[in-house]
Amino acid sequence: MTTDRRKVVLIGTGMVGMSFAYSLVNQGGICNELVLIDVNTVRANGEAMDLNHGLAFAKSNMKIYAGEYKDCKDADIVVIAAGVAQKEGETRLDLLKRNVEVFRSIVTPVVRSGFDGIFLVATNPVDIMTRVTYELSRFGASRVIGTGTSLDTARLRYLLGDYFTVDPKNIHAYVIGEHGDSEFVPLSQVMMATKPVMKILEDERNSYCIDDMQSIEEQVRTAAYKIIEAKRATYYGIGMALTRIVKAILGDENSVLTVSAKLCGEYGYRDVFIGVPSIIGRNGVKEIIELDLNEEEKEKFKSSVNVLNEHFDPLEL
Ligand code: LAC
Repeated sequence: MTTDRRKVVLIGTGMVGMSFAYSLVNQGGICNELVLIDVNTVRANGEAMDLNHGLAFAKSNMKIYAGEYKDCKDADIVVIAAGVAQKEGETRLDLLKRNVEVFRSIVTPVVRSGFDGIFLVATNPVDIMTRVTYELSRFGASRVIGTGTSLDTARLRYLLGDYFTVDPKNIHAYVIGEHGDSEFVPLSQVMMATKPVMKILEDERNSYCIDDMQSIEEQVRTAAYKIIEAKRATYYGIGMALTRIVKAILGDENSVLTVSAKLCGEYGYRDVFIGVPSIIGRNGVKEIIELDLNEEEKEKFKSSVNVLNEHFDPLEL
């Protein structure tokens, strides 16, 4: 008998992890079993209790409990949101050494449990932490995914929707590259409905201009710094991005999301994990979409690849 079990394990019950768990419960119908694992087991138990007490108000029921690594064995997805978070004045790359230490203590016990599902990483610097998970787990590349620039792309669409007074769902635009200071928007590929935004800027010079596009790109790139300055951390947006990716996987949606995926020749690069538009389905990354970047955009992408390669040291694993 095939069960309809859709089981997700969350490792790291801090603000990012619990924002993800809270949005998963509230959106409902995405998974029916959620396991919370944290080095602080008292906290994991408390978080499970708190969520369970809200189930009466949720759209659908689900089994939620604090668990252990052995509970990963039959999970479909293991979400990793554990590690140190960015503080004011830090870049995401500043967290690398400390979070590699944390990941060494997480990935091995997950694999040892017999887990053979999909890893989904949110811990920053997420592109490199996803590659660390790939190297430590030795899983196939398609089953090791990072949140990448999925949140940045949502920020971009929100800002472009506001600028053009159009529903963000009708803005087809991506942030690609490192989830960090070298990320960028390939403007030549931004569409409103099926009309290139560059054409709109040309046709409606009196209303819109390219400088505003560059300002919006910078607002996206610096959004996290501003939020951290205001409230010490970001968590709702990334929590919802995690839920979106989990929904695409468990629903076998074949949706295009700018997750952190391993390039295997796409865009001319190999081995690096980086934010690129990827088709996401039941088995993880199904295909990476190669946007038709112009020369300037290719140079920006190359810079982002270089930043990530310079900061990844396999000897650190
Ligand atoms: C942010 C964190 C998730 O961009 O890096 O909000």
